[in-house]
Order: sequence, then C-alpha cells, then structure tokens
Amino acid sequence: MSGSNDHIGGEARRYGAATIADAVARLREGGLVAVPTETVYGLAADSTDAAAVAKIYRAKGRPDFNPLIVHVLDLDAARTLGQFNELAICFAKALWPGPLTLVVPKTADCPVAAAVTAGLDTIALRVPAHPVMRELLAASGLYLAAPSANRSGAISPTTADHVARSLGSVVPLILDGGACKRGIESTIVAIDGSDYRILRPGPVTPAQLESIAGKPASTVTNGKIEAPGQMLSHYAPSKPVRLDAQTTRSDEYHIGFGPVAGDTNLSVNADLAEAASLLFAALHHAEASTKPRIAVAPIPEGGIGLALNDRLRRAASAK
Ligand code: TXA
Ligand code: MG
Repeated sequence: MSGSNDHIGGEARRYGAATIADAVARLREGGLVAVPTETVYGLAADSTDAAAVAKIYRAKGRPDFNPLIVHVLDLDAARTLGQFNELAICFAKALWPGPLTLVVPKTADCPVAAAVTAGLDTIALRVPAHPVMRELLAASGLYLAAPSANRSGAISPTTADHVARSLGSVVPLILDGGACKRGIESTIVAIDGSDYRILRPGPVTPAQLESIAGKPASTVTNGKIEAPGQMLSHYAPSKPVRLDAQTTRSDEYHIGFGPVAGDTNLSVNADLAEAASLLFAALHHAEASTKPRIAVAPIPEGGIGLALNDRLRRAASAK
C-alpha cells in the first residue's frame, strides 16, 4: 500500500512525521482522520469535541444509539475517563496495549462528549498497540474516539485502500500504515464488579481472559442490548454469503481455508490467526468480484476461530 491511492477522493498518505503533524492539526481543529490500528482502520476524532464526534456519526451513517470506543495511550489516561476496579486493572495490565476494549463505568468528571457513549453511563476504552495510532495519540495528547473506518453496516477496513473506497469522499486524510496485522476488531469485555462478560469476541480469546481473571466470563445478561453495534445485521457484505461451503457453485466466489482451496485461501496451513488477518480483505475482494454470491469454507471454532465465525455468521445472516 502506498501513495498509489492518492487519486481516490480522500488522500491516503504513507505514514511519516509530516503526515502525523498534519493529522494532529486536523484533529485539533475538530476534523476526522483515518488511522491504522493493529485490528482494523479507525475513523478518529477528538472525543471531547461534540461537533467532531458528530462528524464521525455523519461520515459513517452510523445510528446515534451506537456508542464509540475511545483510544488512549495508557492505563493512566484510561483511568481519567473510566473507573477501573481490580479485575479491570488485571485485564489492562495483562493485555494493553493490544486488541482488548474494556467497558467500565465513566468517571464523574469524564470529559468525553455525551454522544460518544450514546447516553450510557459506561465507556468503552482501548489502549492500541499499533505504532501509528500510538504516535498520533502521543503527538496530539487527545483521547481519540474511533469506530472502524467503514460505512455503518459494511465490512471493516484492514487497508488504507479499503478506507478510501468506503469513506474516501468524506475523509480528507487517511494515514496509510499498511495492512492491519490482527485484521479483526478488538475483543470487547464489560466489567461487572468481580465478573465480566464478552460483548464481542475478537483476537483476545476467552481462554486468555479466563487465565487472567481466574474464572470464565459470566453469561448472565440483564436483558438490555449492551453492545448496540452487535446487532445481527452488522458486518454485511452487499452479496449473499453461504457458510460451511466445502465445494463451490458456479455463481459463487469461494473463500477457502486449509484444505478447501477456494478462489482465495485464508490460510493454507489452517492457521486461524493468519485467517483472521485476511478475512476482511477476502470479503472485500469477494464483494468486488463479478460473482453474485460468496461462499466460505468451514472454519473451526477454537481460539480466535470464535471471532471469525461470529463475523461470518453476521455476514451470512444479513441477506
Ligand atoms: O478494534 C476495534 O475495536 C476497532 C478499532 C478502530 O479500535 N474499533 C471498532 O469500533 O471496532 P466500532 O465502533 O466498529 O465498534 C465498537 C463497538 C460497538 O459494537 C459498540 O456498540 C460497542 O463497541 N460499545 C461502545 N461503547 C460501548 C459501551 N459503553 N457499552 C457497550 N458497548 C459499547
Ligand atoms: Mg465497526
């Protein structure tokens, strides 16, 4: 990925000192900047600036009841926005920086704009690991609200080119940091006193969380929709998706895994982390193909396979 995207509306520029300075200036003026993280590209704005946050919702066409994740540099910064009990601190110390989002009660004087949390008394916080996002956080000194940089309901972007195709007309600057290593959105964990719930499966697996907490996630829900973005129609490609496809039909673009070759293969060696890093790129590719339908080979549920299958089921149920 390089400056070759410059022709597509918003400008995708290879990350460097000059682009970071430009990005910081835009963010301080209340503008939007697309930025790579280790999971997917995010669409960032100053979370304390209500007008800037409103631009995120407008650019994505995102319903305003779906709250945003706030990205901060470290646990100390996170604690100025959210209340961390012992369990939350344990998770943060073990897994930050990294692909884990913690949902905790807001602090009494949390400076984040009300629209970020969509009226909830909790806030979703993440300390990202990607060097470009970290440099942007450090250089700006801002707390950055950043949902995935795609139009609401569409597949998340894992390259600057995906962002340019989805949001290029409304996002003036895309920091190009190459392909995202994890390729799938962060694991979201809600802290409930001494218990925790997994609101969205992701790169951090239930087994990892259990080994840190010393107990499994609780499955009790209080009946409310707790991660509003987890509505089933999320992650929808524009074509019908058929799962567990061992063989392909003539009108399908086939995404393979392991021994099921497919038109493209997520991991010939059946490595789930590799498959996760390539899944959204494969779906973007399948969308762009001339075939009207998408088929996906079976993918085992273990480890990060849980998150892969979660995204695939959402994609398949949308049509
Ligand atoms: O990996 C990621 O998490 C990426 C990168 C850019 O950091 N971001 C991302 O953001 O996936 P987004 O907006 O696509 O998903 C955020 C999810 C939504 O499902 C939203 O409902 C949930 O986080 N969320 C945000 N605040 C919440 C809260 N206070 N309580 C429960 N869920 C919340
Ligand atoms: Mg998203």
